[in-house]
Amino acid sequence: MTHHWSADLIAPDDDFAGAPLLRKEFSLDSGHGDVVTATLHVTAHGVVEPSINGAAVSEDVLTPGWSSYEWRLRYASYDVTALVADTSVLGLALGNGWFRGRLGWTGNRAFYGSELAGLAELHVEFADGHRQVVGTDATWQAGPSATTSNDLYDGQSIDARLASSAWTVPGADLTGWVGVHPVEHDAGRLQPYVGPPVRRHEVLRPVRVWTSPAGATLVDFGQNLVGWLRFRVQGPAGTEITLRHAEVLEHDELGTRPLRSAAATDRIILSGGVDSFEPTMTFHGFRYAEVTGWPGEVTADDLEAVVVHSELRRTGTFECSDDLLNQLHRNVVWGLKGNVLDVPTDCPQRDERLGWTGDIAAFAPSAAYLYDVSGFLDSWLVDVDLEQRHADGLVPFVVPDVLKYIDAPSDFPAPESTAIWSDAAVWVPWALWQAYGDREALARHYPAMTAHARRVESLLSETDLWDTGFQFGDWLDPQAPPDDPIKAKADNGVVATACYHRTLRQVSAAAEALGKADDAGYFSALADRVRSAFGKHYVSEGGRVTSDCATVYALAIEFDLLDGADRQGAGDRLAELARANGYRVSTGFAGTPFVTGALAATGHLDDAYGLLLERECPSWLYPVSMGATTVWERWDSMLPDGTINPGEMTSFNHYALGAVADWMHRAIGGIAPLAPGYSRVRVEPRPGGGLTWARAALDTPHGRIATSWSLEGNRFELDVTVPDGVTATVSVPGSDAVECSAGVHHYATTLA
Ligand code: BGC
Repeated sequence: MTHHWSADLIAPDDDFAGAPLLRKEFSLDSGHGDVVTATLHVTAHGVVEPSINGAAVSEDVLTPGWSSYEWRLRYASYDVTALVADTSVLGLALGNGWFRGRLGWTGNRAFYGSELAGLAELHVEFADGHRQVVGTDATWQAGPSATTSNDLYDGQSIDARLASSAWTVPGADLTGWVGVHPVEHDAGRLQPYVGPPVRRHEVLRPVRVWTSPAGATLVDFGQNLVGWLRFRVQGPAGTEITLRHAEVLEHDELGTRPLRSAAATDRIILSGGVDSFEPTMTFHGFRYAEVTGWPGEVTADDLEAVVVHSELRRTGTFECSDDLLNQLHRNVVWGLKGNVLDVPTDCPQRDERLGWTGDIAAFAPSAAYLYDVSGFLDSWLVDVDLEQRHADGLVPFVVPDVLKYIDAPSDFPAPESTAIWSDAAVWVPWALWQAYGDREALARHYPAMTAHARRVESLLSETDLWDTGFQFGDWLDPQAPPDDPIKAKADNGVVATACYHRTLRQVSAAAEALGKADDAGYFSALADRVRSAFGKHYVSEGGRVTSDCATVYALAIEFDLLDGADRQGAGDRLAELARANGYRVSTGFAGTPFVTGALAATGHLDDAYGLLLERECPSWLYPVSMGATTVWERWDSMLPDGTINPGEMTSFNHYALGAVADWMHRAIGGIAPLAPGYSRVRVEPRPGGGLTWARAALDTPHGRIATSWSLEGNRFELDVTVPDGVTATVSVPGSDAVECSAGVHHYATTLA
């Protein structure tokens, strides 16, 4: 329910090192009986931690997250009935967050404004119906906290000598506190959360603590994760403990080069008593930490790593007989966890952490199987739509689009629609529609889908190809030079035109599903034109596609751009290329999600498994063989000799190349939607690659679908669980598909 605000957005008269506390003491109106409900609505310019009488009002952190603040600032609403007392202190601790912290690689900060501010309204309802409202206004006061610096990229410093809870108590001595002033703002921007809050999740203990060759104390948490360290410690007052974070080691020391300018360093100055440390106004992508200044020796019992991300429900699982594939799948899951901190990001560790649209365009189907990402991506798509509306249908490279404020270096392209990245406005809603079948959500996203399709229509050449303008294309083709990831083998026009064809088919199908027959007809006719242009200009005898590399065949096959003999010829050529390359991956962002599917769909299942199971670099299992616990940005983010790839962009936690999980779910697990939301499901496991069993399970909107198969010698057996109201079309290898309804079904066959 939307809340109508009467409170002022208030800023402290003194900034207090970027982490001010705002405070209001109040008494409950008397004579109205008991408090029936008390609700706090709260948001900020910056991030805010609200409290009542010193108690945190919720477990959320980094509220209100990051949205396109220019047009949408979310507020959280909490039931605080149990917290209000006759006399109470309502407190807001502010930090820089995304609003005023650093964003992007230029070192700049404060893109949305220079002043931190808080907005809160407490609504108390009494037994006799009386209502009392306590809101932020000029009567509030502001004071210092123990946080002496905070930034999402650089880390947080806390001086425990300054820590005190006195300010949370009524009647506190407020020496040193100052006033506040109202900040002009457009209340029309204020909207309730439509997605989940950010919360703490797993807590990991060190698996190893040791001294490096250079004498540093290093801690390994055994898992590349996103969050922060938490601990209690006691030492002489004034002792400074420094915590540096990194995803990898290099030459046996902390490998921080991939973080670029992100300092990812937290500090605490000890008070002399027992100090608790938890830096909740930053986050780090790390597996390792370097601890300096610890009083005495650090042991594995001293520290814990807290995993932080948006609250999402796990829905899909996958497991098979190959341990390396299982590790790859776990890495995909951790890659997701690390990049769903309110915004779907490219990476969580370096001076970037932006909502790169192409990354989620590639990964959305995998994400939507693994977790219920409907609310999370629904919320992000609101910002996609807002950014687009203010840019004439253009879907920017990142959402929220902070790049529009960054003075682009001369080699950075002027903003214009780009395949895959801008296609996120269609591919992401489409993935949600397929996974959850929510027609209202599709209708909400439809304007953004069509605005993108129409803008690209205006960019087509006279030939009906999308072959001009800047493209990221098959970004990060493994054969491109490390310092020039855009130099792909695949022709940009082929990639962009193929992607546009896919986009148009999805927009047309969405129009159809929403009963918009005119639009459906329009976009499908345009898709026909683009398809025939693709055939005419890019396809030659026997299904050869311009630039003759794996990505162009993968896209041409999976995006349905070829007929009959051409399609088979393209599949055969793709298989030939895969074999000739020794099954090492040769695709980048564009081709990677689709290459195994294209092989399997054209009779080359063995080659699809060949690619999936290859261990030599570049391959999906190469990072696994190097001990990876997340999906890497580059196939070789770490080189075989254990050094970090010299490329400037080298993240160890990027989900995009993990998009192969979608194929694993469909082809190995055997679960794919046949109708939106899995009201009809295709169960078609395709055993191969020496696997002897696999199982998958998915909680769909209709209930749990589960598969489990085994292969002993030639004997193939499959169990399928189908929930009520769902029809499954089940294919076992070598047999015709059969339809089945709710229940548990067993199939057995002898493979030829
Ligand atoms: C990001 C990518 C992103 C790309 C686009 C990179 O810096 O990390 O994942 O999609 O830029 O060029």
